[in-house]
Amino acid sequence: MISEPERLLFEPLIRDIERLKAARKAIILAHNYQTPEIFHGVADLRGDSLALAREAAETDADVIVMCGVRFMAETAKLLNPHRTILLPDSRAGCSLAESIRPQDVRELRRRHPGVPVICYVNTSAAVKAECDACCTSANAVAVVESLDSARVILVPDEHLARYTASRTDVEIISWHGHCEVHERFTASDITELRALTRAYVLAHPECPDDVQQAADYVGSTSGMIAELTARRPASALLLTECSMSDNVAAVHPEIHFLRPCNLCAHMKRITLENIRDCLERLAPRIEVPDEVAPKARRAVLRMLELTASPRAALAESGASTRPGAPLGV
Ligand code: 13P
Ligand code: SF4
Repeated sequence: MISEPERLLFEPLIRDIERLKAARKAIILAHNYQTPEIFHGVADLRGDSLALAREAAETDADVIVMCGVRFMAETAKLLNPHRTILLPDSRAGCSLAESIRPQDVRELRRRHPGVPVICYVNTSAAVKAECDACCTSANAVAVVESLDSARVILVPDEHLARYTASRTDVEIISWHGHCEVHERFTASDITELRALTRAYVLAHPECPDDVQQAADYVGSTSGMIAELTARRPASALLLTECSMSDNVAAVHPEIHFLRPCNLCAHMKRITLENIRDCLERLAPRIEVPDEVAPKARRAVLRMLELTASPRAALAESGASTRPGAPLGV
């Protein structure tokens, strides 16, 4: 999965991490945006933010190392209040999570009384505590429809909100948050590429709307993988974080990946060195304040309960391939 010279370079660190993992009874979870030496070299479980939340809910390890960003580690802590959760670099944040505060959610509720609030998992625990349910890009439609309300508030990502609205009859009230990585893609990137190649273009729902409209497929990181596995195009362009292509290419060497991608500086704070260090020191630990944790946990659990349904399973498998296409149920 990683080249021979890379393997030799990383081997001493990987060996240290494996030894510490066993000594600490630890498990390593890695998001799809982690570098290949982490994703294929030391991770026990890998996936999108929904899969990582589910894995975090089911582990019986003493220690969870979250190779991702802070909101993912907080979600793991909410689901495992008595386990040690480590985030190898405590500065690994997320522009979306920073785009909304608890008081913004309270103000939205004041302006739209009685309308339920759903927050994207890319939010702080304090924001989750103000919301009725949480969602990820893999299950946003299922969560929105499960609340039995003609209108819902969906925060903070504006593009995910519009993507979700295009797939449901529920009216969506959105917020103005953006991902600093996905908002850098433009529709003209796709137009220029189409003039040169016949690559299959897959975009994350955090991309701007015109990018989503121009893409062949729009879906979460797990949806993209499912779509590539089913379709096996000769060449593909993933409009998302750069490491996604590297990680999928290792599993699908038959697909040629084009590389105009963008890096997430937050995800890239996680390295083999700081994974080893955090296992050695059992720090930095992620804690969620007592006044926030029970309500935030309720929002996350509601998502996990609601999405254990066939509809959610369909949505997660990437059944919808064009913006506006029905989910097929
Ligand atoms: P996924 O839920 O698709 O893994 O995306 C998380 C994320 O942070 C995308 O930028
Ligand atoms: Fe946050 Fe965007 Fe990075 Fe995902 S890619 S963690 S949404 S900043």
